[in-house]
Amino acid sequence: MSNTVIEVSDIVTRFGTNIVHDGANLSVRQGEIYGLLGGSGSGKTTLLKQMIMLLHPQSGEISVLGQKLSTISRTDSAILRRNWGVLFQSGALYSSLTVAENVGIKLREYTDLPLKLIQDIVRMKINMVGLPETAAELYPAELSGGMVKRAALARALVMDPALLFLDEPTSGLDPVGAEAFDNLILELREILDLTVVMVTHDLDSIWSIVDRFAVLGEKKVIAEGTLNEIIENPQPIVRQFFGGIRGRIRSQNGK
Ligand SMILES: Nc1ncnc2c1ncn2[C@@H]1O[C@H](COP(=O)(O)OP(=O)(O)OP(=O)(O)O)[C@@H](O)[C@H]1O
Ligand SMILES: [Mg+2]
Repeated sequence: MSNTVIEVSDIVTRFGTNIVHDGANLSVRQGEIYGLLGGSGSGKTTLLKQMIMLLHPQSGEISVLGQKLSTISRTDSAILRRNWGVLFQSGALYSSLTVAENVGIKLREYTDLPLKLIQDIVRMKINMVGLPETAAELYPAELSGGMVKRAALARALVMDPALLFLDEPTSGLDPVGAEAFDNLILELREILDLTVVMVTHDLDSIWSIVDRFAVLGEKKVIAEGTLNEIIENPQPIVRQFFGGIRGRIRSQNGK
């Protein structure tokens, strides 16, 4: 059986009177690319933030790499935080820092590595995400949208995390850029043995790189599984998402 690395059990999330999750469950297995899907406001980003301890559900439990987040000690949470990288919805880089400085920030903050070694690691990560060496000295305003995403990805991977969290990584990219970014994630998952959780609206990503995913709706996870499993799901909200995709899959499979 596959190892579960993230388990979300029966979480309830409220902001004032706004109930966002009311008994949501899912589990992410070692080594998979796991998608979070759902309409705008369905609580995808909130759930992602709860997985990385930026927000906390009112009840229920989230376990990450075997640690229960509701009762985790300060020491264990510090260790856990080093074990994941995050690329937020905006992909925000510090505008006053160069790409190299942005990528190296966690190494300077969390380690005592000598500057020369930090520079070497940063150069390696910049290269790994497919940016040219010359990008290292550029400022965020001097980058294209796709380059910003890649730089933010290099920063997320700088501590060699086991887990990578991505919130809408391909939003704002054109289809070619989005496909290239998807392929990069796929490649890095293989090379770095990553488990990836990604929020996405992009049906192309779901189709080409996501192994399993959850559909959020009605304050719950209304469907969880592979694309082939979920397109058979008869619930109207699920059907809404995959209106045309089923026919497309059938025709690609030659059925
Ligand atoms: N810090 C917060 N304080 C108050 N309400 C919040 C907060 N964060 C999120 N919410 C509310 O929780 C709900 C879910 O928001 P969330 O950002 O998780 O949605 P989402 O599924 O990521 O949507 P989108 O696809 O538009 O990014 C929304 O109603 C939002 O207003
Ligand atoms: Mg969101």
